[in-house]
Amino acid sequence: MHQSLDQSQANSPSSINVSKAPHSSTHSLVRRFRTVLNTLTHGPLYSIARHRISSEVPLDPVETWTFWTERRNPITEFVARNYPPDFVRRRILGPMLAQNHSVGIESHYDISNAFYKLFLDKEFMFYSCAHFLSERETLEDAQRNKAQLILALLNPKAGDKILDLGCGWGSMLKCIYEVTGDRNNLLGYTLSKQQLAYIKSEVGLNVSLTNFITVAYEEASYDKIFSIGAMEHVRPNEILSLLQKLYSALKPGGKLVQQFFSLEKEKRPTSMIPGQLFFPGSLLSTHSFHLHAAEQAGFKITHDLVDDYKPTLRAWYENLVNNKEKAIDLVGVRIYNKYLSFFPISWRFFKEEEAQVHRLVLEKP
Ligand SMILES: C[S@@+](CC[C@H](N)C(=O)[O-])C[C@H]1O[C@@H](n2cnc3c(N)ncnc32)[C@H](O)[C@@H]1O
Repeated sequence: MHQSLDQSQANSPSSINVSKAPHSSTHSLVRRFRTVLNTLTHGPLYSIARHRISSEVPLDPVETWTFWTERRNPITEFVARNYPPDFVRRRILGPMLAQNHSVGIESHYDISNAFYKLFLDKEFMFYSCAHFLSERETLEDAQRNKAQLILALLNPKAGDKILDLGCGWGSMLKCIYEVTGDRNNLLGYTLSKQQLAYIKSEVGLNVSLTNFITVAYEEASYDKIFSIGAMEHVRPNEILSLLQKLYSALKPGGKLVQQFFSLEKEKRPTSMIPGQLFFPGSLLSTHSFHLHAAEQAGFKITHDLVDDYKPTLRAWYENLVNNKEKAIDLVGVRIYNKYLSFFPISWRFFKEEEAQVHRLVLEKP
């Protein structure tokens, strides 16, 4: 699948050959000018990602994967990691993060359920990191493994009142229902209207279009609360207050099970700027920040293990490439290009260990 490219051409943001990038006759000087300007103001990672995504012809899959995932020369790498400097990053991210959270979530998830079906696993439609036990396993196997891990941490029983924060297409709620047979005590929150419609018609479980960050929770009302791939959307300044609300919403002895990825090193790496192209209005926090906030809220951290997101991203990418025509028919070239770029950009992010997926259990004593 991989095809080697000339290093200087493939890996150098400053030397990206705009004239060789896919373009149509309407491709204009304006697009090139904007790319140069964006490089100066937002840095090379953002401007190149934006330039490539805005191509009016489908990006070449092999070139795209190679472009984003191969090692860069040291100078390019230095520029990519350090420009713009931190005080500029803060200024750029400020207005992006001030925008309405729901709008950013809807812009990512309310594209087309049929489009997501093209690359997510067939059995569950999980849009979060799977657990691969070997290279031979399929995405379906690995998502089943992940569901088993979450079930083991959650230990759901009939009669337990359980809430899923950011329930996606209802995958984990369905797994819990299969174990407990107790539909009435399960509830999921999402901000995506399309996910809500899907769960109502295809899964038949209780789900509500509710913002889990701002909603008021009834005190001591849940035995278990969990989230998979949703804490990534909670901005640093909202984490402590959310954890305090969840602590209060749990019954004594209750637990919060979370799977999410968080930053391992820097608080505001340059990669957070292109991240706004995919998740406008979301910003990651460091893992130590999450742990500290959990303890401040009163939780006891009883489990914290990491997982590798890269095989899941690669599997989604391959599924998308294999369904290129259908994807373009459903969502158009630009959204196809966006996801074709999103998966390798994220793959590199994990390869460089800028972030790591964690599974946590937080207990209310
Ligand atoms: C990456 S998806 C993960 C979905 C699902 N948990 C899974 O593992 O497949 C993130 C989910 O979080 C939801 N979400 C993000 N922020 C939210 C918020 N503030 N309130 C409710 N749902 C939110 C999105 O609508 C989406 O369903």
